[in-house]
Amino acid sequence: MEDKKKVIFSGIQPSGNLTLGNYLGAIKNWVKLQDEYDCYFCVVDLHAITVMQKPADLRKRTLEILAIYIASGIIPEKNTLFIQSHVPAHSECSWLLTCNGYMGELSRMTQYKEKSKKSGESIGAGLFTYPLLMASDILLYQTDVVPVGADQVQHLELARDLAERFNKTYSPTFTIPEAYLSKTGAKIMDLQNPEKKMSKSEDNPNSYILIMDEPDIIRKKISRAVTDSIGEVKYSDEQPGVKNLMTILSNIKGYTFEEIENKYKGQGYAQFKNDVAEAIVEELTPVQERVKALLENKSELEEIYKKGAEKANYVANKTLRKMQKKIGFIPR
Ligand code: TYM
Repeated sequence: MEDKKKVIFSGIQPSGNLTLGNYLGAIKNWVKLQDEYDCYFCVVDLHAITVMQKPADLRKRTLEILAIYIASGIIPEKNTLFIQSHVPAHSECSWLLTCNGYMGELSRMTQYKEKSKKSGESIGAGLFTYPLLMASDILLYQTDVVPVGADQVQHLELARDLAERFNKTYSPTFTIPEAYLSKTGAKIMDLQNPEKKMSKSEDNPNSYILIMDEPDIIRKKISRAVTDSIGEVKYSDEQPGVKNLMTILSNIKGYTFEEIENKYKGQGYAQFKNDVAEAIVEELTPVQERVKALLENKSELEEIYKKGAEKANYVANKTLRKMQKKIGFIPR
């Protein structure tokens, strides 16, 4: 009998250009897990429209993200790669979960609290209900494991709560998913303000490295990265800028923090920063080349996302029909 592999689901929003944080915190981890699991990797375009997107940019980024997945080493034949809006079950499930979710639990989501501080009353309703859509993404595939960065753990816990609640209210329907974090890449910090996570929605471009940044831009951004006046390469909470650069170097090269500390003892930051930049350039250049080649042949990408949507629709609909039946809808 064929061994049934455990299921992975994860996704990235096409709401901005992808950063090194997305790459190290999510994509690089997916590449490592793809052999062991039955993986669904999605470009979550429905999530991106929680804030206004220019239609042409949204289309461009959606395809670019799919290309980045593949260019980073996700093998299309082995995994289900698809675009969220091509599987209507995500939107439908989201409504069903909305009716099982509580205002209180959604109000406690850190990301929502931060964003609502900025926008006040005019914050989009989608930003409030967004974790329910994310829970739908995960639960529709009976997902066991969700590889994400640390910022998504709270949303994942909500997905678990919703799954448990639904299972209890009706009868066992959903697998309870678990988060899976990268050992060193789970929280890559902002280069200008290392107390904050690196984010694609940050205004100052020196704050982040984009996956598609040119080598010289990467070098410039790393040389401008905020450090401190201590002048010693040390993995310490007192030196959050240096700690972040060490994390990046360790993640890409596989060095331990101790090895990095020893290598740069008594040398200040110049050589260290130089090596961090070169490690990033070396890692991203081949990815960028493959992305460009993939985007030149859109029909190949189209074939991949269409095939992915077919499989995803089949699996997601099976779970959705179960939910509808249990809730009391007349089967169609
Ligand atoms: P998003 O699009 O903001 O980020 C995509 C993935 O990248 C991770 N990430 C980071 N990891 C380390 N350091 C950082 N600075 C950093 N910035 C981002 C995120 O944790 C995430 O894993 N709601 C999700 C997308 C989503 C999803 C899902 C994820 C929708 N449905 C279902 C998993 C399962 C989001 O906005 O991620």
